[in-house]
Amino acid sequence: MKPLIAPSILSADFARLGEDVTAVLDAGADIVHFDVMDNHFVPNLTIGPLICEALRKYSIAAPIDVHLMVEPVDRLIPDFARAGATYISFHPEASTHVHRTIGLIREQGCKPGLVFNPATPLDWLEHVLDELDMVLIMSVNPGFGGQAFIESSLGKLRQVRSMIDARGLDVRLEIDGGVKVDNIGRIAAAGADIFVAGSAIFGSADYAKTITAMRKAIDAAI
Ligand code: DX5
Ligand code: ZN
Repeated sequence: MKPLIAPSILSADFARLGEDVTAVLDAGADIVHFDVMDNHFVPNLTIGPLICEALRKYSIAAPIDVHLMVEPVDRLIPDFARAGATYISFHPEASTHVHRTIGLIREQGCKPGLVFNPATPLDWLEHVLDELDMVLIMSVNPGFGGQAFIESSLGKLRQVRSMIDARGLDVRLEIDGGVKVDNIGRIAAAGADIFVAGSAIFGSADYAKTITAMRKAIDAAI
């Protein structure tokens, strides 16, 4: 599957979010990573469905990849579906009935994803991988941008890549946290095909140059 670059708007300029998201898409990004934090599941508070809807109203047409770091999960799903989300992913620890939450996301017309924290075992996938459109491997502990990449997530990526391939599934494998130009090649080689990058892209002076360098490193590695 075509590798996709997904800038995390957690590191964008919130005072001029529409412009900044347009700029990053014009610079060659593929999808918009949208981090939702609730000061409960994670120790930070960010954005909700109103902002997602505002981006759609601002004519952002690219897929929006909503990463829910909230507990409980289910009540927010219809709101994000109405607000124009494409993917909705959640952490299994935050939902009492994981299979039901996945079904709810699909019923609402969105693509379900399941997210694994650095210490969360992959066992859940045994039972629900066939129901998913995306698996998201966290390579930092969720809550903040700008943290260092946790190397053990490469092994986890390889494991999920083999599970997806062994079952012949069309499931995206996303990595999130500490992704930079200088490690993205190794991450691609481990099997990821969606690359979230917040500070590395929005913190750079030239978005197009950074995204092009990321693509080159990915192409060289796969
Ligand atoms: C962390 C978020 C990430 C974050 C990544 O909880 O899920 O999406 O924005 O930021 P960087 O790329 O700066 O590590
Ligand atoms: Zn995220």
